[in-house]
Amino acid sequence: MRLNRFLTVAILAVVGLFMLSCSGTKISGENYKVKNGMIVFDEPERAPGQQTMLGYAAEPIPVVRIAFVGIGGRGASAVERIVHIEGVEIKALCDLEQSRIDKSNAFLEKMGRPKADGYTGPEGYKELCERDDIDLVYIATDWVMHVPVALYAMENGKHAAIEVPAAISVEECWQLVDTSERTRRHCMMLENCVYDFFELTCMNMAHQGVFGEIVHAEGAYIHNLVDNWREYYNNWRLDFNQKHRGDVYATHGFGPVCMALNIHRGNKITHLVAMDSKSVVGLEKARDIMGAETFANGDHTTTLLHTIKGQTIEIQHNVYSPRPYNRLYQLTGSRGFANKYPVEGFTFVKGWLSADIHPSAPNTWEHGFISKELQSALLDYYKHPIHKEIEEKARKVGGHGGMDFVMDYRLIYCLQNGLPLDQDVYDAAEWSCVGELSAVSAANNSMPVLFPDFTRGDWDKLDGVKFYGIQE
Ligand SMILES: NC(=O)c1ccc[n+]([C@@H]2O[C@H](COP(=O)([O-])OP(=O)(O)OC[C@H]3O[C@@H](n4cnc5c(N)ncnc54)[C@H](O)[C@@H]3O)[C@@H](O)[C@H]2O)c1
Repeated sequence: MRLNRFLTVAILAVVGLFMLSCSGTKISGENYKVKNGMIVFDEPERAPGQQTMLGYAAEPIPVVRIAFVGIGGRGASAVERIVHIEGVEIKALCDLEQSRIDKSNAFLEKMGRPKADGYTGPEGYKELCERDDIDLVYIATDWVMHVPVALYAMENGKHAAIEVPAAISVEECWQLVDTSERTRRHCMMLENCVYDFFELTCMNMAHQGVFGEIVHAEGAYIHNLVDNWREYYNNWRLDFNQKHRGDVYATHGFGPVCMALNIHRGNKITHLVAMDSKSVVGLEKARDIMGAETFANGDHTTTLLHTIKGQTIEIQHNVYSPRPYNRLYQLTGSRGFANKYPVEGFTFVKGWLSADIHPSAPNTWEHGFISKELQSALLDYYKHPIHKEIEEKARKVGGHGGMDFVMDYRLIYCLQNGLPLDQDVYDAAEWSCVGELSAVSAANNSMPVLFPDFTRGDWDKLDGVKFYGIQE
């Protein structure tokens, strides 16, 4: 009798363990669980004394003293752009390679600027951050170093601006949010595509309801990096992609559509699902360059996201296949449609647009693009005030046609005038976390993943995207 009971308990325990392993253990990572058929990442509570950074404005800084960490391809071009902004001083340059510091200093001298102090070595950024004559640390290292440098900068009282993606994991995203909230220092991701001329104009149109109700948006980073792989310092990018599945570079496509849809300013992403192709070209490159026999990042990754307002967003990543450059950028509304790549165009229902825009504006056709003449009038009519102010100079200074300069200009302008920044730490976290979330969904047969709320419930406290100092 006793033996029977023992056997029953043992069998039940084994069955229970088996069921547990089927339902949860296989797909539970260290920082997420499966709840009701959905992957749910841990969301740390806000520590006592820590406050939201929504709408946060720091004290004005009339002359912004900047230090650059990482002056490879991207960092060096940032130095070259920023000298064209009034009221900045470049105090320090940090890189693993002394020759890169020397090159940027030679540029500063050529521009009649004082040489900046150089810092080198893997931890040279620490000494730089500990200085008391720096306001902003501008970070353009490889992805793995973004968060360690940004955290150290904020802990030492500096604002942090970080190249894209700001962070490489959900946990790192929370670290940025928590450190920014605790130290009251800005942490902005340098998402330049938000400021591109077509995107910013469409954002303006979206906010004014020109597309009617937006139901779907698309964005992408489709850029064959065949000519670039060997340029990244120490092969950091191919090395990262070799180890990481998912959309590891989502922010250029995702950021601009989040801005158009007012994400965490009255709207929020609820969940996502992702699917990736096998790796073919990526694996070939890794075999060739690294001698690797595996490659985690699929050649093509697609992520679908949903908003609380019932909209869908599709984001794609492909840096391998022979294809023309494409960031998609599409907005589909109940009355109109915008498309950036591969052909810029708009569609509107007949009679929707006002003749104030152009005499032909009410005569649109909902099956095709509007005429180029009307398109040009439309883009002019809805040009964003930021572009009205700075477009000419931005196009002259350049940086992806000028959008990079618009971004730098806005960052410095807001710091100088003590205004909230256009992109806050929650944007940095939301746009960057797609990397790990899409990887986890793809690895689990496209299981839905609950999208973390980095604002901790405050996503509807702000009423739409606002770029301060311009639209007030
Ligand atoms: N927004 C854009 O359009 C755009 C375009 C290109 C690159 N990026 C981003 O810019 C960043 C840099 O890319 P890149 O193409 O310039 O790469 P890169 O390899 O040319 O440069 C990276 C630099 O970081 C330096 N570095 C690495 N670790 C460091 C440390 N501990 N301290 C100091 N310096 C360190 C390296 O020495 C190197 O010079 C990446 O995040 C990338 O995604 C953005």
